[in-house]
Amino acid sequence: MDVSALVTPTGVSRLVYIDEEIYRTELDRIFGTTWVYVAHESEIPKPGDYKTTHIGETPVIATREASGALAVLVNRCTHRGALVCQYRKGNSPFFRCQYHGWTFDNGGALTGVPHPQGWADLDRDALGLMRLARVESYRGFIFASFAPEGETLIAHLAAAREYIDLFTDMSPEGAIEATRGEHKYVYEANWKFQLENSVDGYHTGIVHKSYFDIQAMHSGQKQFYGNDASAGKVKDLGNGHAVIDSRAAVGDAYLHRVLTSPGGPELIAELREKFGEEQTLTLASAIAGAGFNLAVFPNLVLLGSQIRVIKPAGVARTYVDVLPTTMVGVPERMNQLRLRTHEAFFGPAGFGAPDDIEMFGRVQAGLAATQIDPLLLTRGLGREVHLEGDIIVGERSDETTQRAQYRQWARLMSAEAHRPALTPA
Ligand code: FES
Ligand SMILES: [Fe+2]
Repeated sequence: MDVSALVTPTGVSRLVYIDEEIYRTELDRIFGTTWVYVAHESEIPKPGDYKTTHIGETPVIATREASGALAVLVNRCTHRGALVCQYRKGNSPFFRCQYHGWTFDNGGALTGVPHPQGWADLDRDALGLMRLARVESYRGFIFASFAPEGETLIAHLAAAREYIDLFTDMSPEGAIEATRGEHKYVYEANWKFQLENSVDGYHTGIVHKSYFDIQAMHSGQKQFYGNDASAGKVKDLGNGHAVIDSRAAVGDAYLHRVLTSPGGPELIAELREKFGEEQTLTLASAIAGAGFNLAVFPNLVLLGSQIRVIKPAGVARTYVDVLPTTMVGVPERMNQLRLRTHEAFFGPAGFGAPDDIEMFGRVQAGLAATQIDPLLLTRGLGREVHLEGDIIVGERSDETTQRAQYRQWARLMSAEAHRPALTPA
């Protein structure tokens, strides 16, 4: 595959979104190799807790072993391939495959085989569930990699770490939780549209104009439409990670929004009493989220107050999990308002996210035009500023973020993928 023909400094070929072979290669060289986000520690706090998800298309189970250690197991029976866990979340000391009853503990070790006399020499030690070679957690965000070797999670996260810190340190106790449920959606288009769009500052005021108009009507304040005149910036953070940082543009807009929400004045009074004026302003902003959109390549987005997980399920089919987070150490009604604010834009009946999904379908449909290539990613080229540590800064609506993502995409796609080694429990 000639990756240099697919990604150039000024654009990407339509083939990266529609070609079946490129998609299969992504599963191998991107999802089968690099650090991929799996779950948040608050979802599996106790020994025996587990959560099922996917890395690329591979079904996996994130578990908390009896020792308290984290493990990520491939959810595939080592007998004849069935999923060993059907549930979304739960707590169990073992997983029992329902086909022929093989049983594995929550670290993956094979502990039970019905009617074992049918085998003369079954090597149970070699037949544990496959464990991902590396599992690491940063500030509660659990990532795993099939590659037995490679850079550490910390090195991989590069300058994205600072934003993960900010997301978590919004809480007065420096801890957030993803335990208030989630919603999921599926769209019939390529997974990378969701990744690109999560840090696309150019579309905000166009696709979501109706949302901002409603907000303006409701609050009586001029709203933030995300154009160049606003104070936000975009950044290439290294290793394909990118951010729209709107914090400088937020000001007291969210404080005003909270004050005009039902129960808002009482909440602000409570916060002022407990935390003082300055922290109240910070917390009021944090009701709507962190003030930035961070995309951690290839599948994690921190946006508003949510954790968004992107899961490819075909070249033109994508599942997305959306988990609103709550803050530890704040009044419950503040978390309630945070959840309601999240739902207003991102919820299933929200005013924002459904509009984005409609656009992904329209792009996928437009790319049926074989006569035109590539897609342009040139906005802001020439006005970017290069900072120390290879960080590139652009104006809020620049395509600096997408260029960052496709640089990493090309780097991983052109490298020989690491083959996962079977590492029995
Ligand atoms: S496929 Fe799991 S026990 Fe046979
Ligand atoms: Fe959007």
